[in-house]
Amino acid sequence: MKAAVVVGARPNFMKAAPLMREFGTRDGIEAFLVHTGQHYDQNMSRIFFDDLNLPRPDIYLGIGSGTHAVQTAGVMVEFERVVKKEQPDLIIVVGDVNSTLACSLVGAKQHIPVAHVEAGLRSFDKRMPEEINRMVTDILSDFCFTTSPEAEYNLKREGVGTERIFFVGNIMIDSLKSYLEKSEESSILEDLGLSGNDYILVTLHRPSNVDDPDQFRALFEVLARLAETHPVVFPMHPRTRKVMEKAGIKDDGNSDFRIIQPVGYLDFLKGMKNARLVITDSGGIQEETTVLGVPCLTVRDNTERPITVQMGTNTLVGTRAEDLYPAAMEVLEAEVGDYDIPPLWDGRTAVRIADIIEEAFDDE
Ligand code: UD1
Ligand code: UDP
Repeated sequence: MKAAVVVGARPNFMKAAPLMREFGTRDGIEAFLVHTGQHYDQNMSRIFFDDLNLPRPDIYLGIGSGTHAVQTAGVMVEFERVVKKEQPDLIIVVGDVNSTLACSLVGAKQHIPVAHVEAGLRSFDKRMPEEINRMVTDILSDFCFTTSPEAEYNLKREGVGTERIFFVGNIMIDSLKSYLEKSEESSILEDLGLSGNDYILVTLHRPSNVDDPDQFRALFEVLARLAETHPVVFPMHPRTRKVMEKAGIKDDGNSDFRIIQPVGYLDFLKGMKNARLVITDSGGIQEETTVLGVPCLTVRDNTERPITVQMGTNTLVGTRAEDLYPAAMEVLEAEVGDYDIPPLWDGRTAVRIADIIEEAFDDE
């Protein structure tokens, strides 16, 4: 069988890499990689191909940035051409970005089965574009591969039949486990002059935190205050940097508040593993910190990954800047609490997915 594996944005690469690697070992699966080009900067895209040994895309759509409609429609138009030409037996999409939604829509309308890796996650907040992408993709998918038990519950509630739901675990953790040792070779901590694990690692890119300059400025001021006692490293997403520049937000020159370009996967893993605290609004980082046992404060009012709060090291602090400083200080002054790693976050998710796909297409 022939499978099209779709990537588009930063959080897709570490989910596709284990699949491409596993499919490469299977006689029954011939996979080709399509990159939509939703993310295109060197350190939002290319660097991950190198770090994760991800094969170069077989097809690059070069869509780039735009409004939701422009970007989603652009991917649909180009991906439809690919599908018509290549006639895959299965389209595999990961995560919840606009490229995920666009390609699942194309597949469903061409009557090609769609597999969604990371299905069933719900924040129950439709103001997040990702929530809409997740809901539509899941409804259209023939294979809903889930990371955690509550995802199955969410899918069933929305009418997805159990024959379409497969609890396979967390594909991101396949990459984490494969590359944790190699990440030790990263020199990022020395390069930044950081020693020990007393620093705070920050990422913020959700529109709800960064698009409104007043909201972002308030969070930024809290980070600057935290940097007075603990070094703060902030690899800044291009979306966030653009808002900061446009709004004229500047750091106060404290050399312990490091705003840097987004970094590659190996550097980021090393940075996370050794951090005293991670402050983020990312989806994937909530999961990675849980497996690494590093405290994580998520600057959001909700999460589609509640298992990281229930079992792991994640705490939702909400989006009010005034709540962030005391929450961070509380973590910094306490011992790391007990935590567990959720079931099937074991590095073998790609194997389980490949088994299910091979078996399903063997029957045909
Ligand atoms: C997207 C995803 C989000 C995911 C995030 C991961 C959607 C709706 N959002 O958000 O779920 O968490 O990626 O990082 O799909 N830009 C660049 N260079 C790039 C890419 C983006 O400068 O390589 C800038 C552009 O100004 C662009 C903006 O960032 O307009 C936003 O990019 P976009 O892909 O629309 O959304 P993200 O915020 O990156
Ligand atoms: N990441 C990275 N470099 C960075 C920031 C994040 O390699 O500078 C990795 C991180 O380890 C995780 C993924 O990117 O694997 C998360 O992507 P992002 O936060 O952009 O998207 P989200 O998960 O919120 O959709």
